[in-house]
Amino acid sequence: MIITIDGPAAAGKGTLAQKLAAKYNLAYFDTGMVYRAVGIDLIANGISPDNIVGAEESARNMTFSKMQELAQNPDFRSPIGGQAASKVAAMPKVRELLLKMQQDFAKKPIAKDGSVVAGVVYDGRDTGTTVCPNADIKLFVTASPEVRAMRRHKEYLQKGLPSMYEDVLAQTKERDLRDSSRAASPLKPADDAVIIDTSDMGIDEVFAKVCRIVDEKL
Ligand code: DC
Repeated sequence: MIITIDGPAAAGKGTLAQKLAAKYNLAYFDTGMVYRAVGIDLIANGISPDNIVGAEESARNMTFSKMQELAQNPDFRSPIGGQAASKVAAMPKVRELLLKMQQDFAKKPIAKDGSVVAGVVYDGRDTGTTVCPNADIKLFVTASPEVRAMRRHKEYLQKGLPSMYEDVLAQTKERDLRDSSRAASPLKPADDAVIIDTSDMGIDEVFAKVCRIVDEKL
């Protein structure tokens, strides 16, 4: 069983994906991590995330374990990591170089507890369109920029990171624009995706709705 969940930043994809993975005993792949890993790799080596040659070199050498190592960097989940990821994710060759690593994960999916399981929940921007066009269930989860910026802002504050709502909103809109206007694999729902707007929905409501879709498919 392959489930893909795409959508803009902070729409609630990650929480939903992890809850689904736990309930249906599936592995979880947060594909934003591959782009964050390249972005952080560049920054850690004093290279600008705008540097195409450097980004392609990093993507060429990226592995699953190197990505997990880079995820320990304190900037990995910060706005710095997010902006860097968004820049390298707009480079077509970088996307091409990181595609196989994402697709290969479904061949032997490993769950959180280290066990090999029967499927994957992918979370990202193009997992239903490019990474797994043959997925069993495709979801496109979205919410208004204001709602998503407020969620991210609260997340940063909870983690003790400095944050201003207006700045987060501006960054959210900037990333939306970059993610949806890039030439390679832009952010857009797959033709066969179920679109879920979570602006006025709590996670429990979203989860219940998606579980009905999965149960029906099973
Ligand atoms: O989901 P996230 O915030 O960790 O994603 C970081 C960046 O990576 C985001 O700006 C868009 C990019 N991304 C992508 O282009 N394709 C994906 N499948 C996942 C993320």
